[in-house]
Amino acid sequence: MNAMSTKPLSALAAIAVMSSLIIFDTAVADVDKLVEDCANCHGKDGASTESSVPIIGGISELFMIDTIAIYKDRDRPCIEAEYLEGPDKGSKTDMCKIADELSDEEIESLAKFYAGKTFVRAKQSFDPEKAARGQKIHDSNCEKCHEDGGSSVEDDAGILAGQWMPYLEQTFKSYLSGERVMPKKMKPKMEKLSDTGMEDLLHYYGSLQ
Ligand code: HEC
Ligand code: HEC
Repeated sequence: MNAMSTKPLSALAAIAVMSSLIIFDTAVADVDKLVEDCANCHGKDGASTESSVPIIGGISELFMIDTIAIYKDRDRPCIEAEYLEGPDKGSKTDMCKIADELSDEEIESLAKFYAGKTFVRAKQSFDPEKAARGQKIHDSNCEKCHEDGGSSVEDDAGILAGQWMPYLEQTFKSYLSGERVMPKKMKPKMEKLSDTGMEDLLHYYGSLQ
């Protein structure tokens, strides 16, 4: 009795294994294709070499998933972005449109892909005096949530250390204008920064290379 019932079961199990392999294969192929599109702006493995485009290699899965949802909800501005490479080079789009096109499965595969890469810090020039002042401001206002100088992946709050300064500057402006919704407890810290304080912070994050 037992021996007889194991036969059809194992055949079924074999089919299940085969079909899951097929599903797995197409998922992998799809993520490669998607990533190719992202790479036209964010660079290979998300290590952007363009100062207005953020480095996304090495960001946490959760931060990527949340961020794409935020673009879909328009809780971040839809800033016009130009394709830097590839077949669409020169044509314009924005992250909201890109986010709208992505399914939940695609977002998850993209999040896994980029979380598996290394955050390659930008090589950029900075002023050491401003950076030193910026570090103090960071330590007393931002370190609590952006640990280790804003380099901790576990914070799920993006990576500030080594991020492109022009991108970060634009981000500060979007937060302060209200176009990008801020976490409740970050708001008072950001709003009390002076213009010089903000500039010092940018130089601090830029100095981490
Ligand atoms: C046409 C250029 C372009 C393409 C293609 C593109 N991006 Fe972007 N992306 C940008 C720019 C510019 C920004 C910064 C401005 C903004 O917030 O919209 C950005 C911002 C982001 C951010 C926010 C990072 C942060 O630290 O807050 C994420 C995440 C992101 N993109 C992921 C992706 C993924 C995943 C793809 C591919 C599915 C992709 N992008 C395709 C140009 C592009
Ligand atoms: C109470 C926690 C908290 C504090 C304090 C805080 N942040 Fe944040 N921050 C977050 C979280 C959570 C996110 C991610 C959510 C989002 O995308 O808006 C974030 C996102 C950011 C981003 C966007 C990163 C990116 O790649 O898009 C910047 C820039 C930033 N914070 C700067 C600062 C600075 C500068 C300070 C100190 C003056 C600060 N934060 C204080 C929690 C905090």
